[in-house]
Amino acid sequence: MKARGDASLSTSRSTLRGLFVAGTDTGVGKTWVSTGLALAARAEGRGLAVMKPVAAGADATPDGLRNEDAVDLIEAAASDARYEDVNPYCLSSPMSPHLAAAEAGVCIDPAVIRSAAGRLTAAGEWLLVEGAGGWRAPISDLETMADVARALGLPVLLVVGLRLGCLNHTLLTCEAIERDGLTFAGWIGNVLEPDMRALEANVAWLAKRCGEPFALLPREAPGAGSASARAASLASASRRLMQL
Ligand SMILES: Nc1ncnc2c1ncn2[C@@H]1O[C@H](COP(=O)(O)OP(=O)(O)O)[C@@H](O)[C@H]1O
Ligand SMILES: [Mg+2]
Repeated sequence: MKARGDASLSTSRSTLRGLFVAGTDTGVGKTWVSTGLALAARAEGRGLAVMKPVAAGADATPDGLRNEDAVDLIEAAASDARYEDVNPYCLSSPMSPHLAAAEAGVCIDPAVIRSAAGRLTAAGEWLLVEGAGGWRAPISDLETMADVARALGLPVLLVVGLRLGCLNHTLLTCEAIERDGLTFAGWIGNVLEPDMRALEANVAWLAKRCGEPFALLPREAPGAGSASARAASLASASRRLMQL
């Protein structure tokens, strides 16, 4: 792993308030949870800034490349920020960011992301950041999404995709977050397999090791469950997380 000087860490951790949303894997519900938290905050009159710093998989539009997660976050937060600040690295191909960046001839620089975060929060906004992939998803040959999280210095909320294997993924991710010197803020469980065996026992084990979850979200049937219902089930979590 690439070593970073203390000086760069201390400057990059200066003034941001907010949360970095990581996941136990890709496709576990980071966007599902992040947009729900943003909607819940807005429903109670709390504004926030949002960011999807690195996105791989984008559509060409008249305004340039646009990534679905970033667009969903912007919509949920009713953000009027520049797209380029919300999503400084928007890469065309849906594959590991380091490969999508190499294909595009782009070098992902966490310092550029930190600068964009500064612009998004210039008026003191609370910042919700959605990561990409899991904690060690590569952004280059040497760096991973963890380096992006370190550059931002925010506490980390872990979205646990509740399915077989999640206990191992959760513990490994928590250990890595702590080893990287960041604060583990807590976790939200997202049920990926509605008929997962021993779901409650898995949640109980996680609660013993990682603390009680901020929320547990059920698996919604396709087409069922509205965004406002999801926001309502995340209202208390959103309130408590924004006080961290
Ligand atoms: N609790 C849930 N119920 C129903 N669909 C869900 C739920 N959580 C996530 N999804 C869907 O699963 C897919 C992956 O979720 P997403 O939030 O995009 O994951 P990530 O951001 O971690 O890659 C999306 O299509 C999303 O709408
Ligand atoms: Mg996502």
